[in-house]
Amino acid sequence: MTTTWSPETWREHETAQQPDWPDPIQLQETVEHLRALPPLVFAGEARRLQSSLAKVARGEAFVLQAGDCAESFGDFSADAIRDKLKIILQMAVVLTYASGLPVVKIGRIAGQFAKPRSSPNETIEALELPSFRGHSVNDLAFDERSRRADPTRLIRAYHQSASTLNLIRAFTKGGFADLNQIHMWNQEFVAASRQGQRYEALARQIDRALRFMGACGVDLSTDSNLHEVDFYTSHEALILGYEEALTRRDSLSGDWYDCSAHLLWVGERTRQPDGGHLEFLSGIANPVACKIGPRATTTEVLSLCDKLNPDNEAGRLTFISRMGADEIEGALPPLVRAVRDGGRAVTWICDPMHGNTFSTPSGYKTRRFDDILREIKGFFGVHEGEGTVPGGVHLELTHETVTECLGGSEEVLDSNLAEHYEALCDPRLNARQSVDLAFQIGEMLQG
Ligand code: PEP
Ligand code: CO
Repeated sequence: MTTTWSPETWREHETAQQPDWPDPIQLQETVEHLRALPPLVFAGEARRLQSSLAKVARGEAFVLQAGDCAESFGDFSADAIRDKLKIILQMAVVLTYASGLPVVKIGRIAGQFAKPRSSPNETIEALELPSFRGHSVNDLAFDERSRRADPTRLIRAYHQSASTLNLIRAFTKGGFADLNQIHMWNQEFVAASRQGQRYEALARQIDRALRFMGACGVDLSTDSNLHEVDFYTSHEALILGYEEALTRRDSLSGDWYDCSAHLLWVGERTRQPDGGHLEFLSGIANPVACKIGPRATTTEVLSLCDKLNPDNEAGRLTFISRMGADEIEGALPPLVRAVRDGGRAVTWICDPMHGNTFSTPSGYKTRRFDDILREIKGFFGVHEGEGTVPGGVHLELTHETVTECLGGSEEVLDSNLAEHYEALCDPRLNARQSVDLAFQIGEMLQG
């Protein structure tokens, strides 16, 4: 039994979903190497995110957490990073305009490289190999060499995260996120669609409002809120050697922060009460999140609060419910009630993706746009019924023209899935489906 937490005490606990690294010495050397590299984010930024999440819990802001299921070493360019940012900025404008609330923007980006798997191995035509666990561990190609867990990939994931974050900081603070650029965020593929035109109309109204304020004598050039945005990073804290190596003591507070991202979450498969992942997250001072699936019990949820937020600090703990559209109305209310009646500080957000995945007869893993929408509606309905706050959404999406999720107003059909199915792991909403969804969530927020 551990009494004092440190970044390595998770090693005393059983830890699910760790790769079977064939060379433990090479792994140890890699972790040492990472330990010497600079932090990616700073403690003060993580504290600012926590105070924004506390606002969310009070109903004074809304979370948009979004990005790829798994980032890829192959999809890494300035254009790709800019376009991922565009779609999130565009959705955030739609949500802010509809709700009148600030939107807390958090990417599944700059570190989302590792995946939990339902089975450690995969068999194709009698050949059994380790499952693909994300680009920070191995490669998707089905051959022995590609599937071997290679610790040097952790270093590559660190450097890709650093470059991605560097560009995100430049874009969000250097003019690209300026409200005057609002039309530029409507990339061609979206602009040509009905949702894109709806966005253009909204952007013109915002232009007019800004001109009106300018004409009234408000000096818009000096208010940084109009010219810059705060954009936070997040990923699943899965490979704990990596997270441990990036955990540093903050010189101001003396607290430990996992400086690989602003927010870290633990997944549905790794939230065992005595497991290494909860042990690790319990000691870092970042805001943390935990996925909650339909089989979670009230006892489990309250014990997660005890473990991850013993001081009951606002904004420290977010529960990301991922129930599935058919289950949310039955499964979520008792959990929300237990948290509410126990006086536990929790920010609730909705992941409408992971409870709605299925495989088509042709073998594609997909999700229906309508199920995603239905789960979000269910989430709003449950919180309305319980007098609690529906704080935001957690989405898997991409700026690309992919055909991975079915439906949306410009129907992706079963027969279209093969056209542009590029996901490394789970199916993502494409840019049109994402903007479409933002408008529909905006309507729920207005309601
Ligand atoms: C994910 O967020 O990609 C994921 C694997 O989620 P979950 O833990 O909810 O299944
Ligand atoms: Co996923």
